[in-house]
Amino acid sequence: MKIDVLLGLQWGDEGKGKIVDVLTPHYDMIARFQGGPNAGHSLEFNHIKHILHTIPSGIFHEEKINIIGNGVVIDPVVFMNETESLIRLGIDPVKNLYVSKKAHLILPSHRILDAASEAAKGSTKIGSTLKGIGPTYMDKTGRNGIRVGDIVMPGFSEKYRFLTNKHREILGQYDYSYDIEEYEEEWFRGIEKLKSFRLIDSEHLINNFMERGKRVLAEGAQGTLLDIDFGSYPFVTSSNTICAGACTGLGIAPSRIGEVIGIVKAYCTRVGSGPFPTELKDKTGDKLRKQGLEFGSTTGRPRRCGWLDLPALKYSIMLNGVTQLIITKADVLSGFRELKVCTAYKLKGKKIDYLPFDIADEQIEPVYETLTGWDEDITKIHMYDKLPENFKKYIGFIEKETGVKVSIISTGPGREQAIFPFPL
Ligand code: GDP
Ligand code: IMO
Ligand code: MG
Repeated sequence: MKIDVLLGLQWGDEGKGKIVDVLTPHYDMIARFQGGPNAGHSLEFNHIKHILHTIPSGIFHEEKINIIGNGVVIDPVVFMNETESLIRLGIDPVKNLYVSKKAHLILPSHRILDAASEAAKGSTKIGSTLKGIGPTYMDKTGRNGIRVGDIVMPGFSEKYRFLTNKHREILGQYDYSYDIEEYEEEWFRGIEKLKSFRLIDSEHLINNFMERGKRVLAEGAQGTLLDIDFGSYPFVTSSNTICAGACTGLGIAPSRIGEVIGIVKAYCTRVGSGPFPTELKDKTGDKLRKQGLEFGSTTGRPRRCGWLDLPALKYSIMLNGVTQLIITKADVLSGFRELKVCTAYKLKGKKIDYLPFDIADEQIEPVYETLTGWDEDITKIHMYDKLPENFKKYIGFIEKETGVKVSIISTGPGREQAIFPFPL
């Protein structure tokens, strides 16, 4: 069996958590492959909303195995808090959650370095989630990091002290006051919690599952336009959010990738700094934010909102080899008389259909096509045929422009709010 990969095609928060939860019954294993507690994946059932940061979104299906892969970075405190809130809900993740020994740990000092670096950047800051993501991946690639498997090895405390001292030296170069001890105590409690989980070389288990004909779904975090290589650098995250990241983040050969499921919000949002060609800094943008409840799941920050951006979407589809699209938050567009879709950009008076290299410095102007909106509330519709005609035209336009079929339309945050236009 091949592994299917589910990932965001925009700037994150496309609704990956909800869709993974919807698709989990079709799989035996759900595996997160990159990112860390910068992610906030929401899912909702029985009218209760859950937000996951490190733990895969298949965790609410107790008979399914969930994996935190080697490509993920883990903050033991966030992990502990997440597991404790699951336990309060009567779900014991120790039973069905395995953690890669090769995943890297976010130290208290990584969080401080993240904050100090952002503070020093002033107005050019990335708008990081301040979870320590960048500094942790820097230590990973710099070959200084501490991995989950180290916590049960002799010499762990020395490794911790050595790296923390190194960070203290770096922090000395910043004009930034901090208190590591405050977080450290909790961090070590988190380490003890982590020890109660099955710490494994997850690449073997995942490949073994596939060999035995079991179905595995890889769950991406962030979105393609935040990818370290292909996103709007430097306003990106520090991991490969694209499909290739699933290979390195789980230990899967490229030839084992099956379906690539791209999640697209029916419009665009972005949190943090960086270019956003279709951003609406007007009443329409405010309306999208209000109707879409666009506030960060991890930081609570208001999300910047704008129209759907097709050149950016096509770029994401190309980079990932997307085989099917899932459109989320389509319900949020009800009540807009007109819907604009960006089909190209204008750069220095010239029309282009790609994201330019220097997008972070250049002022690119979106070129729009206007479609007619719909008024109907679609949150309670369960059959494709019952959807408003203009809604179907909107979906048809996306399919025609991208050349990829839409396999699910999400019409609300709830598990049951999903329309399957054709059988999976
Ligand atoms: P993720 O990071 O990709 O998992 O997305 P987030 O959970 O950060 O943000 C998506 C938000 O939209 C969450 O609050 C979800 O509950 C909500 N959501 C997901 N799908 C839909 C949908 O189809 N319609 C509406 N109205 N909300 C949705
Ligand atoms: P999910 O998985 C939206 C953004 C931050 C910032 C940039 C770098 O919920 O879609 P980092 O903390 O990674 O160094 O921040 O990336 N960012 C996200 N935006 N959704 C996310 O995750 C994000 N994770 C990071 O806002 O602009
Ligand atoms: Mg999110």
